[in-house]
Amino acid sequence: MTMSPHSRRRFLGTAALQSASALGLGSFMARPAGAAEIAAGRTLDAQAASPSQPLAQRAAAGPLPVVVVGTGYGGAVAALRLAEQGIPVVMLEMGQLWTQPASDGRLFSKTLTPDGRAMWFKTKTEAPLKTFLGLDIINKKIPAYAGVLDRVHLGGIDAYVGRGVGGGSLVNGGMAVTPREQDFGQILPGVDAGEMYAKWFPLANRLLGVNQVDPAWFEKAKCYRYARVARDQAQRAGYKTAFVPTVYDVGYLAREDLGQVTRSATAQEILYGNNHGKCSLDQSYLADAVGTGRVSIYTLHEVTALRQAAGGGYELDVRQIDAQGQELMRCTVRCAKLFLGAGSLGTSMMLVKARDTGGLPRLPAAVGAGWGHNGNVMAARSNPLGTSTGAIQSTMPVMGIDDRDHPTRPVFAELTPLPTGFENGVSMVLAITKNPERGTFRWDAASGQVKLDWRLEQNAASVAAVRSLIDPINRLLGTRYRTDLFGGGKAVADDFCYHPLGGCVLGQATDLLGRVKGHPGLYVVDGALIPGWTSVNPFVTITALAERNLHHLLREDFGVTA
Ligand code: FDA
Repeated sequence: MTMSPHSRRRFLGTAALQSASALGLGSFMARPAGAAEIAAGRTLDAQAASPSQPLAQRAAAGPLPVVVVGTGYGGAVAALRLAEQGIPVVMLEMGQLWTQPASDGRLFSKTLTPDGRAMWFKTKTEAPLKTFLGLDIINKKIPAYAGVLDRVHLGGIDAYVGRGVGGGSLVNGGMAVTPREQDFGQILPGVDAGEMYAKWFPLANRLLGVNQVDPAWFEKAKCYRYARVARDQAQRAGYKTAFVPTVYDVGYLAREDLGQVTRSATAQEILYGNNHGKCSLDQSYLADAVGTGRVSIYTLHEVTALRQAAGGGYELDVRQIDAQGQELMRCTVRCAKLFLGAGSLGTSMMLVKARDTGGLPRLPAAVGAGWGHNGNVMAARSNPLGTSTGAIQSTMPVMGIDDRDHPTRPVFAELTPLPTGFENGVSMVLAITKNPERGTFRWDAASGQVKLDWRLEQNAASVAAVRSLIDPINRLLGTRYRTDLFGGGKAVADDFCYHPLGGCVLGQATDLLGRVKGHPGLYVVDGALIPGWTSVNPFVTITALAERNLHHLLREDFGVTA
C-alpha cells in the first residue's frame, strides 16, 4: 500500500488523536512513525500518541518557539501551516479531547437525555429553545463537567461557543457557506478578493471536507420534509432559495435516512456534539497538524493572562483543571511568537484584560472594539393544519431562503429543524441579517472581568429584518409566529447568537495579516478578526482568512521562501 504524504499525515494524526483520548492523555503529540509502519497499519494502535512533557516542565526549559491558544478554525490552520514548515507548536486548549467513547459507547451525550458532557460547567442545560407549548420541558439538570458546549452570558446577549479540541466545529450546524464574491468587499475590505476566491476559499473548502446534498435525493429524503415544506412556502411567497453546503458527510446522511447506519443528524444530535457523520476539525485540520509530529496539544489548559516577557516575546499564565473542574496546576509559559485562536470572545477578552490590567498596556484602543453577532436571530412559524414537517428531521440544515439581494435588509435564512422526534408542524429559521450595530469589550475593575457593552435594543434591526422576511409568508398562508419556544413570548429570538465575531478586527486592531499593532510576534488568527458580519455562516471565511494570513506571515515573518 502506498500513501501520499498528505494521507499519511492525516492517518497518523487521526490515530494519535484517537489513541491520546483512549490513554487519557491531557497532553499529547503524534509519535513519529516510519512509512513502513504506517503502510502496515501499525500506527492505529495505542502507541500512535505520545504523552507530551508536562507543560510546567517544558516551560522551565526555556521559551517555546510558538504557542497557539485555542484549537478552533483559526488555531488549527495556524498550527498546521507552522508545523509543516518544521516549526514546533504547542497548542493550549481549555476544553477536552472528544475522540473516544465514554462507558455508554458514545462520545457525546444524547440531545434529549443530556448529561455533563453536554455543557461547559453548567448544572442545567441552556438550549436555544426554552420551552415547548410554553412548558419547561426542554432543559435538563446535568452535573457540572467540562462539557462541549458553552453559553456565555454577556449581559445584553448570550453567545454559544464550542469547548474542546476542535472548538466550534464540535457543536456547530456544519453549514459551510462561502460568501458571495460581490459581498466580500463589505465583509473584509482591505483583503484581495481575487486571491481569496482563487486560492484560499477553495483550499479551505477542500480541507474542511465541504460537500453538498444531491438535489434529487433531497427531494425524496424523509429527514428533509421540513425543509421542502418551508422552501416551497418561501418560493410561493416570491423568495429565492438555495442549497447550503455542509461538512456533514452527505453519503452517511443518506444511509441514516434509509436506517442503514447509526443515526446522528437524524437522531437530534447537533448542539451537544454529533456522535457520527460530521467532519469536525479533529478529523481534518487538526489531524493533519498533529500528523506532522510537531504539534503538542495540552487539553484542559486555560490561558488566564498574557504579558510582555522581559527581553522579548510573551508570557502566558496557564491553569490546568481536570474534567470535574478541580485545579491541577498553574504555571507561566514563555514563547517567542504567540498566535491567538481562542475565538472572538476568548481572544478579545484575553487582550482587553492584558491591555487594561497592565500586561500589554500599549495595545491599541481598537482591541475589544467592532464586535458583532453576524446578525443572528431565530424565528419559528406554525404551519397550516395538517401540514406534515416530518417526525424525523435532520439537524444539519441544507437549504436556505436567499434574500441577500434585498436593497435595504439583506437576509440569508437557513431552514432549521425542530427535531422533537414527533410531528410538530413548526417551520424555523436561523437568519443572518445585516445589523450595523457593534459592541465593545471593556475591563470591569469592580467584577475583575471583561464585559461586553451590548444592549438588547441593538438587535432591533435584525428582528425587523427577519420579520419583514417572514411576515409575507405568514400572510400568504394564514399562519403565525410560534411564541411558545424562545421564552418571554418572543416571536424572534434575539437574546443569543451562534456567530460571535470581531473584537480584534483585521486592519484596525491588527494589520491586514492579523499582526497585533505595535506587538511584534503577536498574532490573531480567529473569528475576532472578522468585523462582526460575514453575510453567511462564518467558519469557511475564518478558515480561508487564516490560510491566507498564515501563507503571507510564514514568508514575511518566518523566512519561508517556497
Ligand atoms: P472557536 O470558537 O472555534 O475556537 C476557539 C477555541 O479556543 C475553543 O476550543 C475554546 O475552548 C478555546 N479557548 C477559548 N479561550 C481559551 C483560553 N483562554 N485558553 C485556552 N483555550 C481557549 N458557523 C458556521 O459557519 N456554520 C454553522 O453551521 C455554525 N453553527 C454553529 C452552531 C453553534 C451551536 C455554535 C456554537 C457555532 C456555530 N457556528 C457556525 C459558528 C462557528 O462554529 C464559529 O464561528 C467558529 O467555531 C469560530 O472559530 P474560531 O477559530 O474563531 O474559534
